[in-house]
This record gives sequence, structure tokens and C-alpha cells, in this order.
Amino acid sequence: MPKRNDNTINGNFKGRNILSLDQFDLPSLDLLFKTADNLKAIAIDAKPSDILKGTITTLLFFEPSSRTFGSFSTAIKQLGGQTLEIQDPQTVSSVAKGETLEDTIRTFQSYTHAIVMRHPEKGAVQIAASVADIPVINAGDGTGEHPTQALLDMYTIYETCGRLDNLTILCAGDMLNGRTVHSLIRGLSLYKNNTIYLLSPKSLKLTRDDFKNFSQRGIILVEIESEKDIPKYADVWYWTRVQKERFKDLSEYEKVKTRFTVTKELMNTYAKKDMILMHPLPRVGEIHEEIDSDPRSVYLSKEMRNGKYIRMALMALTLGRI
Ligand code: NCD
Repeated sequence: MPKRNDNTINGNFKGRNILSLDQFDLPSLDLLFKTADNLKAIAIDAKPSDILKGTITTLLFFEPSSRTFGSFSTAIKQLGGQTLEIQDPQTVSSVAKGETLEDTIRTFQSYTHAIVMRHPEKGAVQIAASVADIPVINAGDGTGEHPTQALLDMYTIYETCGRLDNLTILCAGDMLNGRTVHSLIRGLSLYKNNTIYLLSPKSLKLTRDDFKNFSQRGIILVEIESEKDIPKYADVWYWTRVQKERFKDLSEYEKVKTRFTVTKELMNTYAKKDMILMHPLPRVGEIHEEIDSDPRSVYLSKEMRNGKYIRMALMALTLGRI
């Protein structure tokens, strides 16, 4: 299948790289969400499916992953496709012998029909895509973006709030390094009248370039540094982990790692009755376990499962099987 290199998806996923939420437009998001709605019964009811039969997808993960890796792997298999799974290529592939990223991509594109890649460096997935003549999907590139996480997050918001516009969202934690937030802001900017409060320590705010770039899209971004500035009417709380692996100085990490933590008290004071609490996971102390049973918590239930459904839809569309 020849690859298409034009940027915006425009409702046609076939043969496309999926690198950034910047490629998305409303018809493409609609199509993706409807496809996920239609395909999820295959997973829930364990129905045999031939949708991806004959296809093999490389999962090339240079960084640790549980949910993204596990959901891509099972999404593809659930639809009858196969995977070539390379976790930690630095140890198990010829990368360990000094092979370049470009040659690594040339190798796996010779054997498979798509490459899902995670890498610690921002921009590495773009380099891979520029070499590959098959679709490359960004499963997280350093502090850059994590588009498929944002897609499943938006699908979860749509499913629970019934809309993706006119929302007040609180994002908390690591705005500087959190790639899921970088993609989510881009995605929510496509819809009207959204306001995002960004709660983080001063040192973990968005870069000024990102802040300017995002603000020009029509979305309202409000940076806050204290819990007492959390608006009590927020529809969504999107909590995140402080990204330890991005810190050069771990003593700096220690100072901020659980500066913002969801406790019962915080929920009781600032969260409205019908909000939802999300987190891309993993959490490392920033949401107390006592919150898990709150009916507003969706991170361990809907949000995680939706990762599989959205990735089923994305692979079926990208490989041109739907
Ligand atoms: C996120 C990531 O890798 O960016 N995890 C995920 O894919 N669900 C968030 C994180 O690691 O904090």
C-alpha cells in the first residue's frame, strides 16, 4: 500500500503516518470515534475478526510501556492481525551494535505493514516516518507528543461528558514534559469554547513557545500554581505524573514529584458532582488509592479500556481495512 505524505488526515486515514494531533480535523475525529464505537464489541464479546488478517505491525518501543504497548498489541490481534514486538531495541536488536534509527526502520518496514514506535527523543518518530514507506504511528516521542493517548482521552471525554466543546478542563502535574498533555491541548483546541486550567509548579509549566503556539488556536489556557485557584466548575480533571525520566537533576524531581496530589479532601473542596477524573497512567502517588472507588474516577476503567478500542479503530483505518 503506497504511503501518503500529505499532512492533514481529512477523513482518510489509509496509508497515513499518525505523528501529531495537528494532523486531525473534526471529520477525522468523528470517523475514528464512530469506528471505535463499532469495533469495541469485537473485543468485549471476543468475536472472531478478520479485519486485519494478513497484516503484521512492528511495535518498536525504545521506552518502557504497559498500556500503550499492551493495547496496541491486543488491539491488532483482536482484529486478526499480527505483531512483531520489539521492546527495548537498544538491548535486543542491532541498535545494540550501533545500527542507526534510519536503518532500523528500513529493516522492519521490509517485513511488516506499519510501525508503531515510542522513543525518548522528541522528533525521532518524525525521522522514522521520513524514512519509512509504510505508516508510522507515534506512541510517544520524548517530551513531544503522544497522539494516540490524546485520541483515547478525547474519546473518553466524549463518552462521559457527551461533548468535546464548551468544556472547562483542569490539567495538573507536569505540563513541561508531559507529552499526553501536549497532544490533548492540540486536540481540544479543535472544538469551540474550551478552557484549560494548567496547574503545575512554576518549573513545570509549558515552554513559552508551546504556550504561545497553543493560545493562538482559540483555546483559553490559564496557568495556575496553587490548588486554591482550581475552578469548582471544571468538567474534567486530567492529572499527570511528574516525568522523572526527563529530569537531569533528580533532586529537582524530588522537590516537585507529588506537589499536586488528588486526595479526598481536594475532591471534596474543588470537584463538582458530575466531573470526571482522568489520568493517562502510570500514577506514582499523585492520585491516592482511596479515590479509585469514587464514581467520578475513570482512569482505571473507561480510559484504560478505551485505549484498546481507539487503537483497534486507528489500525483498521490506517491499514485501509475499513
Ligand atoms: C504516558 C506516556 O508514556 O507518556 N503513559 C501512557 O502512555 N499511558 C504517561 C506517563 O508515562 O506519565
